[in-house]
Amino acid sequence: MNTKNTVAAVYPGSFDPPTNGHLDIITRASGLFPKIIVAVTENQNKKHLFSLQERVSLLKEASENLKNVEIVSFSGLLAHFLERVNSFTVIRGLRALSDFEYEFQMALMNRKLNKKIETVLLMPDQAYAFLSSSMVKEIASLGGSTSGLAPKCVEKRLKEILKCTI
Ligand code: COA
Repeated sequence: MNTKNTVAAVYPGSFDPPTNGHLDIITRASGLFPKIIVAVTENQNKKHLFSLQERVSLLKEASENLKNVEIVSFSGLLAHFLERVNSFTVIRGLRALSDFEYEFQMALMNRKLNKKIETVLLMPDQAYAFLSSSMVKEIASLGGSTSGLAPKCVEKRLKEILKCTI
């Protein structure tokens, strides 16, 4: 794949909430492509803690130092969103072998929906290989420290939300 001809790459996800692992992937991708569109959506298989709007604003705040990164939301199929933005390169993070099957299935299904879609899998720093949004929420809800696991703005919002639900 010639990345020089790629105007933008799209990093889709539910980001509930964004973690430092997601930020690590966004930072790596922003160095590889002229522009990164982080596309936040609902994952129908998950019950989200943060609203879509809130996930977008947390990602905006956490990535404000990266000038070629845009944060947007979408609903419906990723393949249709890619058509709308005329960008067919998808970025996804691969933390461990256990992520591979899901990512492989999604990559091939997206390509079946539109043969122009290519998926690029990036490995996060090994410090984030064990990290997930669910783990960050669980640690915060049980009073543990999420320092170093999620951006400061996420840590702050988690504390506020969890205080309200106690
Ligand atoms: N660091 C830390 N955590 C990471 C990570 C990284 N680098 N990469 C993935 N994760 C974790 C996330 O924290 C999340 O954890 P959780 O399960 O505890 O919430 C999990 O891995 C995956 O979440 P995320 O990367 O945010 O995406 P997702 O799997 O929720 O999103 C979509 C999948 C949104 C891309 C997919 O459902 C989609 O495309 N939906 C649109 C509808 C569609 O087109 N469907 C057909 C697809 S073929």
